[in-house]
Amino acid sequence: MSQSKQSHPHALVTGGAGFIGSHVVDALIGAGWRVTVIDDLSSGKRQNIHPAATFLKMDVRDQRASQWIIKQKPDAVLHFAAQISVTRSIKDPVADAETNIRASIWLMDAAAKAHVKRFIFAGTGGALCDETVPLPAKEHHVADPMSPYAIAKRAIELYGDFYRREYSLPFTSLRFANVYGPRQNALGEAGVIAIFVQAMLTNCPVAVNGTGKQTRDYVYVADVADAVMHALSNDMAMGVFHVGTGKETSVSDLFKRLAIITKYRKKAKKGPADTNAPARSSLDASLFTSITGWRPRTKLADGLKLTVLEAQAQQKMKNRICIYPFKKN
Ligand SMILES: NC(=O)c1ccc[n+]([C@@H]2O[C@H](COP(=O)([O-])OP(=O)(O)OC[C@H]3O[C@@H](n4cnc5c(N)ncnc54)[C@H](O)[C@@H]3O)[C@@H](O)[C@H]2O)c1
Repeated sequence: MSQSKQSHPHALVTGGAGFIGSHVVDALIGAGWRVTVIDDLSSGKRQNIHPAATFLKMDVRDQRASQWIIKQKPDAVLHFAAQISVTRSIKDPVADAETNIRASIWLMDAAAKAHVKRFIFAGTGGALCDETVPLPAKEHHVADPMSPYAIAKRAIELYGDFYRREYSLPFTSLRFANVYGPRQNALGEAGVIAIFVQAMLTNCPVAVNGTGKQTRDYVYVADVADAVMHALSNDMAMGVFHVGTGKETSVSDLFKRLAIITKYRKKAKKGPADTNAPARSSLDASLFTSITGWRPRTKLADGLKLTVLEAQAQQKMKNRICIYPFKKN
């Protein structure tokens, strides 16, 4: 017998048309949740949204988004919409704060008024961790935020603490490492793997910036969606948690691995070093594992293959021009 629509728990996912948010929507719907997506499609795509989700094309800076929460009283709010460009945040800190700080506070405030059972925020581990702290970094090893983007992510965690104490908002920040996988936008600045895969599959030049020895902690997007589901189903998972693999992979290593998978024959070009980016980062997720039992299950080798397979399936390779030759990594 089918359950009525109302008996399913209801989640609002902001940014649910984006890379990570859309995988979270898929996981929620797979677990029987009713999902509403709010997204302005500024970087997300309508085709990423699961057909069973209700889609509201709306900017989170618009008061209608927080009013929707107060009126509809969803069980959970998962806040993934963000201005995600570090470079843009440096060029225009005010615009960054409008989305990443002000709108986030409006949503938390509305969620507290609506007595939502969980508020999960997409935090960053990568932008709050570098070689100045012991790696893999634990939650209290926070490096000085170097960009308005990182400042905003940390600020929302502090506001989240405040809303938890003062207004009983069940706030969790999942600080993701460098997330990769299908649907990541190769035009953005975040995803070196998406950029490399796209360039290699179209036989375009690929630039490895600096020495190529800079490392990041790459976590597969399905494991990140699984982490969100673990946080949602565990009332003890409140506060701030790292979600990563604890392993470091260099950009040169990524280049070699992806060249083999995509059968790319060109040598890497040398790009300029990004002096604002940390030399190393990786996250210790053992606190989150000890509370929820979550572990990253996808090995890098498997995740890279899945990412390439999906990109091959998506791309019509003919007549492509090289538009991704020199991106940050
Ligand atoms: N990708 C990573 O490695 C990573 C790491 C740590 C944290 N995060 C965080 O995870 C979240 C999702 O990132 P992503 O990589 O999936 O990026 P993404 O750009 O694919 O997703 C962001 C989504 O938010 C939407 N959006 C942006 N501004 C909006 C606004 N004002 N109103 C409504 N919707 C808006 C976009 O259209 C997009 O669909 C972000 O909060 C990001 O900061 C990502």
